Order: sequence, then structure tokens, then C-alpha cells
Amino acid sequence: MAALGVSLWAPVLVLALALAPGCLAGLPPRNDTARVARYVIHECDWGALATISSHSPVTGQPFNNVFSVSDGSRRAGTGTPYFYLTAMEISVQDLQVNPNASFTASLAQTHYCKKEGFDPQSPLCAHVILFGNIQQVSGTEIDTAKLALFTRHPEMASWPRDHNWFFAKLNIMNIWLLDYFGGIKTVTPEEYYKAKP
Ligand SMILES: *[C@@H]1O[C@H](CO)[C@@H](O)[C@H](O)[C@H]1NC(C)=O
Ligand SMILES: *[C@@H]1O[C@H](CO)[C@@H](O)[C@H](O)[C@H]1NC(C)=O
Repeated sequence: MAALGVSLWAPVLVLALALAPGCLAGLPPRNDTARVARYVIHECDWGALATISSHSPVTGQPFNNVFSVSDGSRRAGTGTPYFYLTAMEISVQDLQVNPNASFTASLAQTHYCKKEGFDPQSPLCAHVILFGNIQQVSGTEIDTAKLALFTRHPEMASWPRDHNWFFAKLNIMNIWLLDYFGGIKTVTPEEYYKAKP
């Protein structure tokens, strides 16, 4: 009877673990660097985007700001961070001058690091830093970006139309992963996109 109980509940447990954001079960082995990077980017719903400011009094200086992100609906990550942007936004105005940007996402925003007792600055609380340039997406990729963002940020669908929102992505050129002691690891975009999350 107990065995039957376990077997009946097992699928429910598996489902609950699969749905829990940042659950330990999902974190790939830490030596599988590209997969860990993909995992962190997929789990995160937001991150910090650093631009070179185009605004006085910090023109030409680093400027960091929070953006919602999605690389795909849950368990369907593409690896590409998609954004929903408007030219009315201060960082987006920076990007119109210089599209180069750095994007950081951390498992500190999931339950994982708190549950494990990892401080956000600890490398064990895995975080990824991406560098590249932000590009407006076009063609069929608009559908991909829209699905990615609107499934995980449903409120976006009702953001004011007169703000002229558009879909954009980070065209990734460099990837750094901090997920363990011994220094930062690098992943090439090729390894990152080849990895099975
Ligand atoms: C990670 O380490 C395990 C155990 O040592 C090993 O079997 C596996 O091949 C390693 N994976 C990678 C991607 O290096
Ligand atoms: C953007 O970054 C690339 C790669 O580091 C660099 O070659 C390019 O000069 C940068 N563009 C600007 C406008 O700073």
C-alpha cells in the first residue's frame, strides 16, 4: 500500500520539482559550464543591463538598470535573452547611441541560493555576465521573442501602446560564468548555443 502511495505521488512530485523555479534538481553539474550558463539565463525573469550612459551628468560612464528578460517559455529556452523595450526608456536611449551592453543574471533571484544558504556574492550562487549588443528583432524572430516574453511576463501585453514597444535581443559576444571557487569561467557563444539545457 505504501509502495502504491509512493508510485501514485511520484509523478506529482516530479511535476512539482520541474515547476519550482531555480530548483536544485535542475542545476546542471557545475563542470558543465555552458549548460550552467544556459540554466541561469533560462531561470531568470530579470537581470541588470549595463550601458554606457548618454545622459548628463554621467555621459560616457557605466549605467546599470533592471530589465525583464526571457529566453523562451518555461523549459523551452533558446539561450537568447529577449527584451521588450521602448525608446522612452533611459537605458534604451543609451543603446541608440552605443548598442553595446552587458547583461547580468543571478540565481539569487530564484529560491535556490536562499535555500542553499549562498550569499548573492558567493560564486556558488551562480551568476552569468553576458556582453554583446542589443538589436531589435525582425521577421519571424518577433514571434519567438513575443512568445518568450509574454508567457513569462503576461503584464507586458497590456503595457501602453503609445510607448511604441519593440522586441529586442542581446546578440551575445562574450560569456562569463561565476558558479564555483577558483575564478570566473568563460564560455564561447558556440558552446553556449550548442549546450542542451
Ligand atoms: C563533469 O565531471 C564528471 C565527474 O567527474 C564527468 O563524468 C563529466 O564528464 C564532467 N563533465 C564535463 C562537461 O566536463
Ligand atoms: C562594441 O563592442 C565591440 C566589441 O568589443 C567593439 O569592437 C566596438 O568598438 C564597440 N562599439 C562601440 C560603439 O563602442
